[in-house]
Amino acid sequence: MKCFHFLVFLALALAFSFASADDPSPLQDFCVAIPEPENAVFVNGKFCKNPNLTIANDFSFSGLNIPANTRNRVGSNVTLVNVDKIPGLNTLGISLARLDFAPNGGLNPPHTHPRATEILVVVEGTLYVGFVTSNPNRLITKVLYPGDVFVFPIGLIHFQFNVGKTNACAFAGLSSQNPGVITVANALFASNPPINPDVLVKAFQLDKNVVNYLQKLFWESN
Ligand SMILES: *[C@@H]1O[C@H](CO)[C@@H](O)[C@H](O)[C@H]1NC(C)=O
Ligand SMILES: *[C@@H]1O[C@H](CO)[C@@H](O)[C@H](O)[C@H]1NC(C)=O
Repeated sequence: MKCFHFLVFLALALAFSFASADDPSPLQDFCVAIPEPENAVFVNGKFCKNPNLTIANDFSFSGLNIPANTRNRVGSNVTLVNVDKIPGLNTLGISLARLDFAPNGGLNPPHTHPRATEILVVVEGTLYVGFVTSNPNRLITKVLYPGDVFVFPIGLIHFQFNVGKTNACAFAGLSSQNPGVITVANALFASNPPINPDVLVKAFQLDKNVVNYLQKLFWESN
């Protein structure tokens, strides 16, 4: 009998423990974000502006026609237009990015978006793109040309690499107002404070000197 009670308790606990990993659905037309009032409690998203005071610029951003500077270590630059850039995206579960790649090897290094699926369209150049499934890790990959579209499912490690001799440019929609990004190499070799090197030596089957070297490098995020 005790066991039965425990099972009922467990079933109820499971039934009520569902957590949503997606952005919340809006309960009104929109909720234009405003900076968090002091001493306010945390909400899942940002505080809303009085709808009567809303203006067109709350829903607008300009400048995505301008290529971003790709003269950095990886030769790419991601211009993300999320809720911090367009406050009207608050609670709407969507954002946009422009991706620029230098010729001959501009790379958006392996990364994941913990809160968003990404759909990308190439408008210029040639991109070798791919993602890796959760364990066991299968690589899904393709070379894309202008007009080609590719989807990177939420949470999976993915990359885009310019294999052409010209600049490449793509735009991407993301299914979160704040997709987040974890750049794999940066997260593991440049966290603050650093991960104990013994962990990285064992996890990556590396010599300790190599780990020390990698931890001292500058890992710029694009
Ligand atoms: C917005 O305007 C309407 C109509 O004037 C008014 O009834 C309402 O109280 C206003 N809402 C807020 C939050 O001020
Ligand atoms: C990305 O481009 C912007 C605009 O050109 C520039 O200000 C920024 O420094 C660039 N970021 C990197 C990492 O190169």
